[in-house]
Amino acid sequence: MTLLRYLRDRKQLTGTKEGCAEGDCGACSVAIAELGADGQPVWRSVNSCLVMLPMLQGKHVLTVEALKQGEAYHPAQVSMTKALGSQCGYCTPGIVMSMFEATYRKDLDAPWKLDDQLCGNLCRCTGYRPIRDAAEEVAGTCPNDGFTPAKPESMELAYEAHGQRFVTPGTFEALWQELDAHPDARFVVGGTDLCLEVTKKFAVIPKLVSLEGLTELKQVSETDAFFRIGSGVSIAELETFSATRLPSLHRMVRYFAARQIKHRGTVGGNLCTASPIGDLPPALISLGATAVIRGRGGERRVLLEQFFVGYRKTALATKELLVAVEVPRPASSARAVCYKVSKRRELDISTVSAGFYVDTDGEGVVTVARLAYGGMAATTLRAAGAEAALVGKAWSAQNVALAAKALATDFTPLSDHRGSAAYRSLVAANLLRGFFDETLEVRQPPLGSQHVATVQSAEEVRHG
Ligand SMILES: Cc1cc2nc3c(=O)[nH]c(=O)nc-3n(C[C@H](O)[C@H](O)[C@H](O)COP(=O)(O)OP(=O)(O)OC[C@H]3O[C@@H](n4cnc5c(N)ncnc54)[C@H](O)[C@@H]3O)c2cc1C
Ligand code: FES
Ligand code: FES
Repeated sequence: MTLLRYLRDRKQLTGTKEGCAEGDCGACSVAIAELGADGQPVWRSVNSCLVMLPMLQGKHVLTVEALKQGEAYHPAQVSMTKALGSQCGYCTPGIVMSMFEATYRKDLDAPWKLDDQLCGNLCRCTGYRPIRDAAEEVAGTCPNDGFTPAKPESMELAYEAHGQRFVTPGTFEALWQELDAHPDARFVVGGTDLCLEVTKKFAVIPKLVSLEGLTELKQVSETDAFFRIGSGVSIAELETFSATRLPSLHRMVRYFAARQIKHRGTVGGNLCTASPIGDLPPALISLGATAVIRGRGGERRVLLEQFFVGYRKTALATKELLVAVEVPRPASSARAVCYKVSKRRELDISTVSAGFYVDTDGEGVVTVARLAYGGMAATTLRAAGAEAALVGKAWSAQNVALAAKALATDFTPLSDHRGSAAYRSLVAANLLRGFFDETLEVRQPPLGSQHVATVQSAEEVRHG
């Protein structure tokens, strides 16, 4: 049962609304207390339609009903009222919960960050300006409102009901024992992918093993040679971690879903769905990442590009899980950018995506070229022909144009409702040309605040 169904049907807490039941509208947003980067509990907005009840073991949840204390409305509610941010009111509780989280965020220091905070909440009648004004008024104000989040407790759980089993082991030994007894169980972490089977296809999944209780999977670390990112690290945590360390990955993560999904979705979940339009695979493959796989017998490592063995198929064997990815530190001489092309800028799935990494020697000759594309084949793939056209040649517009031509033989994309084959081929080539232009002066440019397209011109990069 999802948290949303529990709140509405069992608890009659109907302030939390259902719009889409698939993470797209934000009407069902609630706040959950999670540990922040400094180890202190913080409120995080999530979509209650994509959280199964057992995933909340040991956690503190706040719904919109709790915000009014006595006669006093919460500052987020007062601000919405003053800015006239609500008409029919259907979206309002969800928007207020996103604003509630925003009141505690001290890092909303750029206009795009406020947009990002709100982009998981759709409103069909008020118009977004008053809502944004209301959020701007309270963001980062850290009100003394008495809603101190409780530290999450252990998530360990073994729960069975109505022929369904949900187990959250707290140690790897407990995990192996569970897998020995139930080798047919499926893993789940954030559930932002898997829960759609329940809410959209009404699947009854008999056995789930949640990896959320394994704290090692939540860790990030770095050495002189590489960054290690645990598979249980959320996309929101990855966004913070990559901001200064891996600018190209950070650009990709910025347009990954919306805040509520970023809080629940994980690196491992994204890679293990092996979707050809998942956003992390092209970014991480271009950076030369390695997948760290563990089973009862020990660990093995495979290059991430070999981790994807077919459409939605990975190299994981039964009873194996992805524990981390290791990403080499990009060379300071390397150019690296990731691109996501989708019909809508925020909260949309890629039509075509790309992660590019090109290094050159002192003479400007290409020594390494990793051009990874999503949306062009059944899996994320490197463009072997285009890479071969670059390595050993001068990094010049002329050679990039030749490499862009070679893409035509590297890929035979499909046409679907997101884009035709011809469109995809054209976009793939143009992204490579855009990459050349954009990295003429800044080799790993961050995305500016006011950009209008994924690819920025060299001029835009220069002026931020
Ligand atoms: C509204 C919405 C928007 C989205 N937008 C984007 C987007 O912009 N870009 C994008 O790429 N994706 C997007 N997604 C997809 C999804 O959010 C991501 O793929 C997310 O990273 C999945 O992580 P999770 O922890 O929620 O996965 P889960 O749903 O928990 O798991 C997904 C699958 O991976 C397996 N799995 C998870 N972790 C492991 C592990 N460590 N080892 C082995 N198997 C494992 C599970 O068994 C399951 O089959 C979106 C989803 C929604 C609902
Ligand atoms: S009901 Fe739309 S995001 Fe949950
Ligand atoms: S106020 Fe009606 S949907 Fe937002």
